[in-house]
Amino acid sequence: MHSHKFLDPLPQSGLKVEPKTDLEASIRRLIDEGGGWIDFARFMSTALYDPKNGYYSSQNRQIGGSPASGSDFVTAPELTPSFGRALGNSVAQALEESQTDEIWEFGPGTGELARQLLEHLGERVKKYTLVDLSGELRERQVATLLPYRDKVRWVSELPPVMQGVVIGNEVLDAIPVNVLKRNAGVWFEQGVTYSQARTGPLGFEWSLRETPLRPPIEEGFTGDYLTEIHPQAEAFIQTLVQKFKRGVFFFIDYGFGEREYYHPQRHMGTLMCHFRHTADDNPLVLVGHKDITAHVNFTGVALAAQEAGAEVLGYTSQAHFLINSGLLEGLEGVESTQRAPALKLINEHEMGELFKVLVLGVGVSFDPLGCERGDRTHTL
Ligand SMILES: C[S@@+](CC[C@H](N)C(=O)[O-])C[C@H]1O[C@@H](n2cnc3c(N)ncnc32)[C@H](O)[C@@H]1O
Repeated sequence: MHSHKFLDPLPQSGLKVEPKTDLEASIRRLIDEGGGWIDFARFMSTALYDPKNGYYSSQNRQIGGSPASGSDFVTAPELTPSFGRALGNSVAQALEESQTDEIWEFGPGTGELARQLLEHLGERVKKYTLVDLSGELRERQVATLLPYRDKVRWVSELPPVMQGVVIGNEVLDAIPVNVLKRNAGVWFEQGVTYSQARTGPLGFEWSLRETPLRPPIEEGFTGDYLTEIHPQAEAFIQTLVQKFKRGVFFFIDYGFGEREYYHPQRHMGTLMCHFRHTADDNPLVLVGHKDITAHVNFTGVALAAQEAGAEVLGYTSQAHFLINSGLLEGLEGVESTQRAPALKLINEHEMGELFKVLVLGVGVSFDPLGCERGDRTHTL
């Protein structure tokens, strides 16, 4: 969970962080090449995934329990193994229904979720593949997954034909987005430029360009409005679906269906940065040091998947999904110190309601255990 998003904004005082000057120079070069402007997706992908200096490529210790560990955020599998155990019950059903025995995990973080799933699923999983854009966390993953070394492998490119169960926890929110702004009734794309005069030699600034791009819903918008669109996440899903001949996908993330995402009241957008367990909304500073995310438009993801040939098997809140998958039964007899973090996963005011689970099927159709009660596919 990017749990700190519920905490204070980034405290500016007392912060001693060396700017990543090489990364900033690369982005300025891109801006120069783009005629003084790049779209936000380009900025975000460079800030996060530049092979040398990007946030996810370099030695930042991103994921961990507290600021003291030098980390920036904590995710569900890091909070408690109950997450992997409950998800594992749903994955067991998906393996059975799809008659497959392998798992593909995207953006596997420290390897902790892989460990939990492998432990829980035992011989039902014959092969577990970790897919990430960067190898930075590989060492940590190798150490965590040592007992399962015969089953685990790492790839950075996907084969043409795939099958099995896909897991993506907090991956879609890390895929670059484009930013749109409606100003006095006119839509602009909000990209990035830099200026020497106003904010110092390396200062990045927002910059608007007129655009034919629109959010998927714009009825009801009257005032000024800032939002995101997610072409890269949708392309990612389509590519994946097209490669699968038989499989079940579980995507877990914070986000909404499009009517909620593009609601006239959500006029500030959902871009969010995470640094040392605090959240802020300015991705243009501390570039490469902060995580940058946007909420997921699950309707867009579901439609893209359907177009590519997948079926939406279910969509619900994380709370419903984990409870339906047996989270509470797994806590019987467990000490209260271990129960408390598990309850965070399902508490409405913490991760239970903002986080959703989308279950997709390719070449296989069934009613997912995790969506048995409280399915919200009709809201997509
Ligand atoms: C917030 S972290 C996820 C952490 C982890 N799943 C957990 O639960 O602790 C997001 C991860 O997604 C990865 N990622 C983003 N886009 C990806 C893609 N297209 N394919 C594979 N991994 C991707 C990033 O490199 C990053 O490691």
